[in-house]
Amino acid sequence: MQPIIRSTCENHGQLKSLMSEVCAADLKLVPRKADSPALPYHHHHQPPVTYMHICETDHFSMGVFLLKSGSSIPLHDHPGMHGVLKVLYGKVRIRCFDRLERPSSTPPPPPRPQSGPCVLSPDRDNLHQIDAVDGPTAFMDILAPPYDPDNGRDCHYYTVLAEVEGQQQQPGQEVWLREVSQPADFWCGAEPYPGPQVCL
Ligand SMILES: [Fe+2]
Repeated sequence: MQPIIRSTCENHGQLKSLMSEVCAADLKLVPRKADSPALPYHHHHQPPVTYMHICETDHFSMGVFLLKSGSSIPLHDHPGMHGVLKVLYGKVRIRCFDRLERPSSTPPPPPRPQSGPCVLSPDRDNLHQIDAVDGPTAFMDILAPPYDPDNGRDCHYYTVLAEVEGQQQQPGQEVWLREVSQPADFWCGAEPYPGPQVCL
């Protein structure tokens, strides 16, 4: 793997372009088979989501999240952080929220290609929920700077208030979010990363 991440901020476009080319085989990942447990994951004491740590510096973190069938990473934020996310196999549904204090001069986001990388910034798509759709899935995740609770970059979880069950939220619709503690049915385990090491 090329040491491209050093220039995340300067060459955001290049990073996004390279991320669009990354596939599971590049990271020596074997797509997991569908797993449909009869009981929710917390009854199995197995994490619904696991993380493969690839590398982390003061400037960025890089890894792979693997979601089991039917699991989700609940609505959470990335305070003051940029990020790029690329699905490696399977399918995800991403539901993003922006805070209303975003500067009104910010142009609307371009439409996303079906399988291109998703980009988040401190003021756009910074809050999101990620659901595995139709089976297990995995995505590569680069965050810059990384989470760092000592420097105000802790992960917070949220729930959408006053949402009617089963009703689709419309794009641009204003909703209230309430900060909640980490949902009891979500936790993230760790597993070894089998792919090439990053040269820093
Ligand atoms: Fe996230």
